Amino acid sequence: MPESSATTEHGALTPEPIHRVLLAYCGSKALMSAVELDLFSVLAQDGPATEPELRRKLGLHPRLARHFLDALVALDLLRADGERYANSPVADHFLDRAKPTCIGGFAEMTSDTFYPAWGRLTKALRTGQAQAPQPPDDEDHLFRVNAKEQPDRVRRFMASMDSHSTRIGDELAARLDWSARTRFADLGGARGNLTAVIAKAHPHLRGVCFDRPQSRPFFDEHIGRLGLSDRVTFQAGDFFADPLPAADVLIYGHVLHDWGPDSRRMLLDRAYQALPEGGALVIYDRMLDGSPKDLSKLMYSMTFMLASAGGSEYSVDECRDWLRQAGFARIDAQPLLHDHTVVVAHK
Ligand SMILES: C[S@@+](CC[C@H](N)C(=O)[O-])C[C@H]1O[C@@H](n2cnc3c(N)ncnc32)[C@H](O)[C@@H]1O
Repeated sequence: MPESSATTEHGALTPEPIHRVLLAYCGSKALMSAVELDLFSVLAQDGPATEPELRRKLGLHPRLARHFLDALVALDLLRADGERYANSPVADHFLDRAKPTCIGGFAEMTSDTFYPAWGRLTKALRTGQAQAPQPPDDEDHLFRVNAKEQPDRVRRFMASMDSHSTRIGDELAARLDWSARTRFADLGGARGNLTAVIAKAHPHLRGVCFDRPQSRPFFDEHIGRLGLSDRVTFQAGDFFADPLPAADVLIYGHVLHDWGPDSRRMLLDRAYQALPEGGALVIYDRMLDGSPKDLSKLMYSMTFMLASAGGSEYSVDECRDWLRQAGFARIDAQPLLHDHTVVVAHK
């Protein structure tokens, strides 16, 4: 009988599927700790290493180290060649801090915030309340981090968001008709990566990244590095209170999922008011399709509920309703990447 089969060869039920689900957190936590220890960067920089060498480099106690490394091999994050461990190709590409493709910032956020909050899921289920400390709403904090004290940490999280926004920007640049557009703005655009990708693909466009003032230094650094400062600019502001940029296309990407329904309606109303006749609003998120098997989207949604006061994923139909209530017409929804939806609505 295969180890994890749900039934024996005689058709009797086994508890293996339950054990598999119960132990899934162990693999997640092993990955989070490997990122915290910077294991993948060390292996990328120094090359393959034995367990005693890795213990020395990372400061590990001998008791758990061997099984920890072997578990990462079983998870296909490391490869073992005799006594030496090396990164698997996917870990090397996405978890080495020295590479621009690194998404380790998301693993850090998962470890510090989401994982402890999931540990209090039962309480959240009883109370409906977030279980992560709410970040201070001040000019220093970005992504739950004091950006002045830990700018590298913010950079790492922004880089992990860019791993989505680069591919989404490529898709939006190719799928939407930009020929008659001149200026667009990404609302909550972080360090301007999506703005840059679209502007780069369409040299006639000017793009504005609208975000809170504390994102500006990260924008200046990123857009300067990309050499797009002449056509991609930053506008500091609060999208609930300040005037939105003048543009014929506005974008909310991974923004609505941070807020409750009333705030989402307000953001859509404000976008409608800011757009000219014929303007378009583009929204992307991991929108739910109502299927209970949509496990990764449901987990993202519960993560936002556990981490924020009002956030969650939402369905395409809900999004359409809010857009119609705001006054938008011609609302088009399409799948985006493997787990996102993009909605385009016209004024
Ligand atoms: C989850 S990130 C999404 C970033 C980017 N759109 C993407 O898809 O990668 C949400 C962004 O909204 C910004 N934000 C949050 N509250 C804001 C506000 N009141 N006004 C403007 N931007 C805000 C945050 O600073 C952050 O950059």
